[in-house]
Amino acid sequence: MKIFLALVSLVVTFHNANSAKILGVFSMPSRSHHRLGSSLMKGLAEQGHDVTIITPYIEKDLPKKGSYRQIALTGFEEAHEVRRKEMKMFEMEDQNIFLLLPFFLNLLHEMTEVALNHTNVQNLLNSGEKFDAVIVEQFMNEAHKGFATHFDAPLILLSTIGANIWVNMLVANPAPTAYVPDALLSYSSQMTFWQRLTNTAFQVYSHVLYHWFAFPGQAKLYSRYFPNSPPFYDTLYNASIVLLNSHPSLNQAVPYVPNMIDIGGFHVQTTKKLPQDLQKFLDESKEGVIYFSMGSNLRSSELPAEKRDAFLNTFAKLKLKILWKWEEDVLPGQPKNVKLGKWLPQQEILAHPNVKLFITHGGLLSTTETIYHGVPVLVIPVAADQKLNSHRIVNEGFGLALGYKEISEKALTQKINELLNNPRYTNNAKQRSKLFHDRLVGPMETAVYWVEYVIRHGGAPHLKVAGVDLPWYKYMLVDVGLFILTTLVFSLYVFCKIAKSIFSLCSKPKVQKLKRF
Ligand SMILES: *[C@@H]1O[C@H](CO)[C@@H](O)[C@H](O)[C@H]1NC(C)=O
Ligand SMILES: *[C@@H]1O[C@H](CO)[C@@H](O)[C@H](O)[C@H]1NC(C)=O
Repeated sequence: MKIFLALVSLVVTFHNANSAKILGVFSMPSRSHHRLGSSLMKGLAEQGHDVTIITPYIEKDLPKKGSYRQIALTGFEEAHEVRRKEMKMFEMEDQNIFLLLPFFLNLLHEMTEVALNHTNVQNLLNSGEKFDAVIVEQFMNEAHKGFATHFDAPLILLSTIGANIWVNMLVANPAPTAYVPDALLSYSSQMTFWQRLTNTAFQVYSHVLYHWFAFPGQAKLYSRYFPNSPPFYDTLYNASIVLLNSHPSLNQAVPYVPNMIDIGGFHVQTTKKLPQDLQKFLDESKEGVIYFSMGSNLRSSELPAEKRDAFLNTFAKLKLKILWKWEEDVLPGQPKNVKLGKWLPQQEILAHPNVKLFITHGGLLSTTETIYHGVPVLVIPVAADQKLNSHRIVNEGFGLALGYKEISEKALTQKINELLNNPRYTNNAKQRSKLFHDRLVGPMETAVYWVEYVIRHGGAPHLKVAGVDLPWYKYMLVDVGLFILTTLVFSLYVFCKIAKSIFSLCSKPKVQKLKRF
């Protein structure tokens, strides 16, 4: 009997370690977010795990091993397309970030609820299924942490934009405003006095908004959709680990608490082949190719005519070929050396040795992929974290930046020529690429290891710093500061009193002496 039980427990342990049931919640209707979420979940499936993903995008290209079930957030993509058009992405540059933040928080609150209330999600919640771990994208969707409590599984977060205030708050990670600029401000890590002031003010402002406005809203959703769960604020700070889409070769070096794990680059795949026509085009372009793409949210087909013409005129003068991600059938005035594609396999293109330059909006995925392949860039940042990325690209010397408003034939020609003719940029890009690849283990292996680690140990509370459990005034040492200040003031007062009485005792005769002269 004992042997039998031992065998059963062995089988059970074996099962737990080798094929766990993992739920991934990635409800952001954005292609780049989806790429990251699905890459992680597919990587886990490839290790033999039984994976379920809640996603707006259904894919056909599934992992060969494990299992990969997709729970469709139908209607999300269409709703996102409507919002994207309304937002006029190219005009985002001028928006005041202090005003934009509440707008975004409202939008994300709405999206959090729509995902929770989706019929397919409701069916999963009511299915009585169990999971061994729940991975949630951290994107101001705090109520989604309830999936972990609902399924009684450890909570793992994936931050698609690396360490930022949203993550730092939850794991008590220090991010001194003296040298860590907020991801939404367009500062580099070397800030002027006024920038440090704005950075600090924005940090305080963000904390107030999150704690008094966003979290209470999310708490309501949490208790509405997960009625039998522990209190919201206990779950909020209960992530076992946070996986970060970042790496010091890509991002500024910043402090991390022990449960923050860098996995930047985990989504890069190098096994796929280029489609035949592209392979032929790139192989035959011995003079070199410039790849031009503004990502999936900013569409170059939505550029105003005057900006578009600046690109066209610049490209027409170049000896190189251009591969342009252009989302429509025709490009008016398309020069002979320009090839168009509505959708282009970016990673495979950047991997081709004839690609000499990448013109990009500087999104994190594009930045990661260009570093992976060591291709220099001309970055045209518009919104979100793109300006932050562009500062780093310029500082690290593997590219040049051009403001959206500064786009003109003259500026483009000058920057492109500098990038193509000065070997410094390509050399720096190759150097960055080496730093990126030089790791103990690859980023996907790291991610898989840590997810399995959390599953093996049923959570990882020992990795948490105690700061997570402190109220803000203790964390900021406000009480200690006040105590020191009070003591100082009081001692000074007592000291003055004593000094005064001593002074009055011994000074009177002196004054009289002085007067005699
Ligand atoms: C939730 O979904 C149901 C139908 O699926 C709908 O009737 C209801 O209005 C939705 N609630 C919210 C708050 O969106
Ligand atoms: C926190 O996580 C641990 C480990 O997964 C779990 O046992 C516990 O129930 C969670 N607590 C809350 C309040 O979510």
